[in-house]
Amino acid sequence: MQEITTQRGDARVSMSSATLQRRSVRTREAKLDLVHATDLGRLYQGDCLDLLAETPEESVDLVFADPPFNLGKDYGKHYKDSVHDSAYLDWSRKWIEECCRVLSPGGAFFLYNLPRWNIPNGEFLMSLGMNFRHWITIDIKFGLPIAGKLYPSHYSLLYFTKGKPRTFTRPRIPIATCRHCGKDLKDYGGHRNKIHAEGINLTDVWTDIAPVRHRRTKNRPANELSEKLLERVLTIASEPGDLVLDPFGGSGTTYAVAERMHRQWLGIELGDCEPIINRLTGAGNEVELPGLGDSGKGAARNHRSKSA
Ligand SMILES: C[S@@+](CC[C@H](N)C(=O)[O-])C[C@H]1O[C@@H](n2cnc3c(N)ncnc32)[C@H](O)[C@@H]1O
Repeated sequence: MQEITTQRGDARVSMSSATLQRRSVRTREAKLDLVHATDLGRLYQGDCLDLLAETPEESVDLVFADPPFNLGKDYGKHYKDSVHDSAYLDWSRKWIEECCRVLSPGGAFFLYNLPRWNIPNGEFLMSLGMNFRHWITIDIKFGLPIAGKLYPSHYSLLYFTKGKPRTFTRPRIPIATCRHCGKDLKDYGGHRNKIHAEGINLTDVWTDIAPVRHRRTKNRPANELSEKLLERVLTIASEPGDLVLDPFGGSGTTYAVAERMHRQWLGIELGDCEPIINRLTGAGNEVELPGLGDSGKGAARNHRSKSA
């Protein structure tokens, strides 16, 4: 019988995956529902602050967080994505501090947000003594112009570690070529022949992360991150067997990639978890109701039931 483990060191707790049926964990103030488990991970339905409160100190190897951006998006009744700046930042500080507490020494914290919020978030992380590694710029291919402002064309991905990084792998990416003529897009100043056979070193500007746009590949109407982004993050700062925590499940991109890359994972989503479960079980999601935001997630029918 397979076991899954979510903690390290003396506090290690293993559970038989067969016993991880739908279960509830009573916390001080709230109830967390275990809604799905695999040999590698556990998905809860509830508030990440409750899950974090129940997670032991220094038990997680990597945190990836993609919270709502306070842009007034519709995440359903359970979450109001338009609050006063100070309320949003107060809330952010609570879960950020908790994420740092549960992170093991040398563990990595990736925080994806708008530059506007990642400026105060980064400052807060530094005030907690976290080690700044990078502000990674994720180029957005198709944004919308905003009146009176420059065209916003990137997201920020903060990369901090708790002390010296325990794991760091620098990926190489293929040399960019013109898709019409096949020639190199950049001039390497006469050093083209010295470039490593596996490609060039990754920089902190990522221009090759395409948004998830096609209906057939989407698992929710909006805000789903590309698996390529998570693959890269997990490659850089984790190893097989490490425990990855994502406190904002959404469509479950982090959990799906963690499964594929043999990382353990711990996840939670405040809203509907059905799209995540469909994704992880291979049932798939058909996103049919754009405009309903996450409140429409439960309306995503899976392919099997549609074809039945
Ligand atoms: C931007 S989305 C995450 C998208 C995800 N990275 C993906 O690729 O699908 C943020 C998610 O956080 C959820 N959420 C908001 N507040 C939460 C909380 N307190 N605890 C857990 N999830 C929360 C929202 O319902 C939403 O699905």
